[in-house]
Amino acid sequence: MEDYQGRIAELETRVAALEQALQQARQQAAVLQAVLSLSTQVFAASDLKATLTNIMRVAEQLTDAEASALLLYDEATDELFFEVATGEKGEAVKEVRLKRGEGIAGRVLQTGEPMLVPDAAKEPHHAKAVDAQTGFVTRNLIAVPLLLDGQPKGVLEVLNAHKGQFAPEDVTALQAMALLSAIAIDKAQTYQALHELFWDLVRIIVAALDARDPYTRGHSERVMHYAVAIAEEMGLSEEDRQRVALSALLHDIGKIGIPDGILLKEGHLTEVEFSIIKLHPEIGFRILQQSSRLRPYADGVRYHHERLSGSGYPLGLKGDAIPLDARIIAVADMFDALTSQRPYRQAFSPAEAISLIRQQVPHELDETVFQALQRAWEKGNLASFLSRNPFVAPDRQETTEQGAIGQTVTQREAFNEAFPRGGAFSA
Ligand SMILES: [Fe+2]
Repeated sequence: MEDYQGRIAELETRVAALEQALQQARQQAAVLQAVLSLSTQVFAASDLKATLTNIMRVAEQLTDAEASALLLYDEATDELFFEVATGEKGEAVKEVRLKRGEGIAGRVLQTGEPMLVPDAAKEPHHAKAVDAQTGFVTRNLIAVPLLLDGQPKGVLEVLNAHKGQFAPEDVTALQAMALLSAIAIDKAQTYQALHELFWDLVRIIVAALDARDPYTRGHSERVMHYAVAIAEEMGLSEEDRQRVALSALLHDIGKIGIPDGILLKEGHLTEVEFSIIKLHPEIGFRILQQSSRLRPYADGVRYHHERLSGSGYPLGLKGDAIPLDARIIAVADMFDALTSQRPYRQAFSPAEAISLIRQQVPHELDETVFQALQRAWEKGNLASFLSRNPFVAPDRQETTEQGAIGQTVTQREAFNEAFPRGGAFSA
């Protein structure tokens, strides 16, 4: 009998050990699965915010935590800061910067070792200022350093275990995803830096071209902002908005091929000179065609002087044959031209400009695009860009009589203001 009971006890111990092993195996499998899923998610995303959000979500799931935080390392200041902050106090937490050694995250940065804090209230290193600013009460947490080749990329924290306390396995789980997270952050930061460099270079080139003529200084940059505001009002996707933005910024890049003697000529242009100016959309198109990466932006550039009636150039396309990007740029271009001063006239106020553009709808300009511009203006979404225009007139608000603002428009204006030749406003 004793022998029998002994056998049962032995079996029970074995079963318990097996259950524990099974539990461990399940946990390890969950970690592996989470890390694998993280790898596909983070490497697919080139956007830093999306990458950080993914890492935080996986960390929370893996450790069954109430919340998480990811602080990025700023090499220039040797500090940690929040890039992604959600919730009501999100903006407040973005102001928080931790020096090396400051707070738990700062300490983890300093030592390069993870920390499991079972009771945050009793932990002397806990930076209570963060909780005070966010209104979040941290009970317990794990913080792990995110290192790549020994260099810090940030610190990942999970806060408040749903199960009451975090276990040492949770630390192991977070460590398992630390290197992958550091690589993903590095990749997204590199991509972002390249992206910013690319935009800076385009802006510099375009600004240098615009500056050839003092009256068009900053023109392309403003046209980009107006075009984006229109695209947003029209509900275009993020991808479409990005394409519209760059096409708009580049819309007059072809001016590079127009000699100063013609581009900057005051007064009347000859027929030949005007025909040379009208080449600029085609020149811009050919420049962009040379790069497979820039080709998607070429159509907006090529057709931004086309008009729905077919009176535009270079091809005289009609209606829907004109790509939407170009129809948006046409309206944005005209809005900036009208709200800018010219040698022969003062700038129109935004309300006057909108009134003038309305007169070209729907025969020359797209009605949906125009309405989007009008809504953006009414909502005040154009104001900050208008203020960047040194030539912009204050909005006098009174309704403009068509006759009252009728001014002589030269052929040069026909080019700069994108009015169709032979249209209502050409001389
Ligand atoms: Fe143009």
